[in-house]
Amino acid sequence: MSLAIALDGPAGAGKSTIARRAAKELNFIYVDTGALYRAIGLAASRSDIEPAESEDVSSLLANITVELKFNDKGEQIVLLNGEDVSGLIRTPEASMMASKISAVPSVREFLLDLQRDIAYKNNVIMDGRDIGTVVLPGADVKIFLTASPDARASRRYKELCDKGMDVKYEDILNDVITRDYNDSHRDVSPLKPAEGCITVDTTELDFEQSVNKIISVIKERI
Ligand code: DC
Repeated sequence: MSLAIALDGPAGAGKSTIARRAAKELNFIYVDTGALYRAIGLAASRSDIEPAESEDVSSLLANITVELKFNDKGEQIVLLNGEDVSGLIRTPEASMMASKISAVPSVREFLLDLQRDIAYKNNVIMDGRDIGTVVLPGADVKIFLTASPDARASRRYKELCDKGMDVKYEDILNDVITRDYNDSHRDVSPLKPAEGCITVDTTELDFEQSVNKIISVIKERI
């Protein structure tokens, strides 16, 4: 029997960096499900498809493949039609496109089995928006990781500046607020704390403290 940790929360709460470290320490696979939505967003941009045009999105889905692979370091690679797009999906434009496309029901359905299949075969920490509510409602531990919009925007701003990207703080904060709204107000699988989840707020925690908190929450329950 594999173990599943569901980690949900808004954009920029530190889910991916914290989960990646926690997974390494616990010897679990870290699965970043946002990358799947980002890959479909990229496919839609490349084909000039508007997320609101659901018929166009459905025909796009019929013609693409999205896969997750893990290299020998346990790092996740996302393949769109066999092409490694792991780097291309990390821009602010790709974030916004992913947020929009993730509201389309056929997109969520398209990705459901893929996510469940990975969790079935491996011990996972799976990060997303609907992992504890929809994808793995029976997860062994469900965590809702959050932080204030300001704290989240500052972290993302620093991350993008460190990568050499030319971005404005106000734009990042607006993106965070818009994405929060989109993610929590969509009709299908909106972002919300799962029943029985443990909420961890990292506004006042640094990275090490956040990792330790998550690991102790997990260890107390498995
Ligand atoms: O975690 P992220 O920022 O890479 O996610 C990109 C977008 O994908 C985000 O705006 C919401 C969406 N998403 C989702 O709806 N469900 C998930 N399980 C993961 C991400």
